[in-house]
Amino acid sequence: MSKRGRFITLEGGEGVGKSTNVGFVAEWLEAQGLEVVRTREPGGTVRGEAIRALLLDPAPQETLHVDAELLLMFAARAQHLAEKILPALARGAWVVCDRFTDATFAYQGGGRGIAKQRIAVLEDFVQKGLSPDLTLLLDMPKEAASQRLESRLSDRQEQRDRFEQEQGDFFQAVREAYLARAAEAPDRFAVIDAQQSLNAVQAQIEQALLARVTAWH
Ligand code: TMP
Repeated sequence: MSKRGRFITLEGGEGVGKSTNVGFVAEWLEAQGLEVVRTREPGGTVRGEAIRALLLDPAPQETLHVDAELLLMFAARAQHLAEKILPALARGAWVVCDRFTDATFAYQGGGRGIAKQRIAVLEDFVQKGLSPDLTLLLDMPKEAASQRLESRLSDRQEQRDRFEQEQGDFFQAVREAYLARAAEAPDRFAVIDAQQSLNAVQAQIEQALLARVTAWH
């Protein structure tokens, strides 16, 4: 039987450069000869992507209850684990996921104010003990991140989604919750200073990967 693959997640607030670096991590691992499954949350499956559309829809006429938001995140995650993540890990592939449960602790916990004990109950229920092997947290002060988000949105003429419409205090709380999560699990997390140039950020990511991949492979 092939060895179980590893589960790597990327996290961070809006505008920290996550998407670019998810690609970098996936390509770096592929260059080591590993099979890589690149995916994202909320989403990653047909039903999960439908739930993502519901979650991000900025529809101003109806608010989404915070508990409904939390449960939808975990509903999408349950489907994602069953259909994609667990089968990939079982056949020895490495999974690189753009956000996972740390985002729920940061956004629904820090941002929306849901108690982390309540989130932890759902984490146990849905994940049954599974957690990422490595989490790269791209960290940046909220002012710098919101400037980058602004320029991305205006370059691509994108409309703000339901989370991007939040204000500064929300993103400050998200950042603090992420950093608190990283402090609770320092072996799993690598906190990357995302304010530096792309080359410098990727050099930090490469260092974090090298340190683990050699030990695991
Ligand atoms: P993104 O993929 O463009 O980052 O958008 C996903 C949004 O969903 C982002 O604003 C963060 C949010 N989110 C949560 O609030 N909780 C979660 O558990 C996850 C995975 C994402």
